Amino acid sequence: MEVKAVSVSGLNKWFGQHHVLRDVSFSLAKGEKIVLCGPSGSGKSTLIRCLNGLESFAEGEVAVAGAILSQSPASLRQIRQMTGMVFQHFNLFPHLTVLENLTLGPVSGRREPQQQANRRALELLERVRLGDQARKYPGQLSGGQQQRVAIARTLMMRPQVILFDEPTSALDPEMVHEVLDVMEELAREGQSMIVVTHEMGFARNVADLVIFMDAGAIVETAPPLTFFSRPATERARMFVRQIGHDAHLEGVAVRE
Ligand SMILES: Nc1ncnc2c1ncn2[C@@H]1O[C@H](COP(=O)(O)OP(=O)(O)O)[C@@H](O)[C@H]1O
Ligand SMILES: [Mg+2]
Repeated sequence: MEVKAVSVSGLNKWFGQHHVLRDVSFSLAKGEKIVLCGPSGSGKSTLIRCLNGLESFAEGEVAVAGAILSQSPASLRQIRQMTGMVFQHFNLFPHLTVLENLTLGPVSGRREPQQQANRRALELLERVRLGDQARKYPGQLSGGQQQRVAIARTLMMRPQVILFDEPTSALDPEMVHEVLDVMEELAREGQSMIVVTHEMGFARNVADLVIFMDAGAIVETAPPLTFFSRPATERARMFVRQIGHDAHLEGVAVRE
């Protein structure tokens, strides 16, 4: 049987009395792309943070590329090496250049030779169309450029899966596309990914499956065309209507 990029079974998590993840189970085959969506507070960020050990959980099992996540330091280290994460707010080091942001992990974490890391960083910066920005500091770049640096930094670690948590929602509208284009390219190249986003156009172009969460539970799992045109549940219908409405108002979130 082929090893899954990610598999999650029976995940339950509480914040105090609040049951934030309820029996969450799904898996991602290698090369597959899942878009995770749902109303604010439904548990999307908590779920993906559980996948790379940024959050602990009370019940269930998470495995990345066949390695089962436990709270031991060795397991956390292993899982985090295999699991890239791209956040809404980039999380770059402001006092390091773009090149240094990219090479820090491989050189200090994996003892990769600096020269080799630099070469690879420059290749990846080309790939995200920032080949000429290597010596700048994050503060000298636009939000869209910073997010592409964050994606290149994640790629430096050759992750089995990349987890994106609303990667375009902090960006000015005119910068959303340049980031989505890079993500679509990675997707086409076969990068396994889980993307929390409400960008319907991206989901249509890229996702193998959409997972819709509400109140900590997976309510619906469907191919994007089915999910956006014929959601099966009333909760998903309301959600799709709402994001469609917002997209129409802003004129940016729907890409064909
Ligand atoms: N560190 C925390 N402590 C307590 N409650 C939290 C914490 N983080 C998130 N929550 C709560 O868990 C629920 C799910 O949050 P989150 O995963 O951020 O949802 P989403 O990403 O879908 O908006 C929300 O009700 C949120 O208020
Ligand atoms: Mg969130």
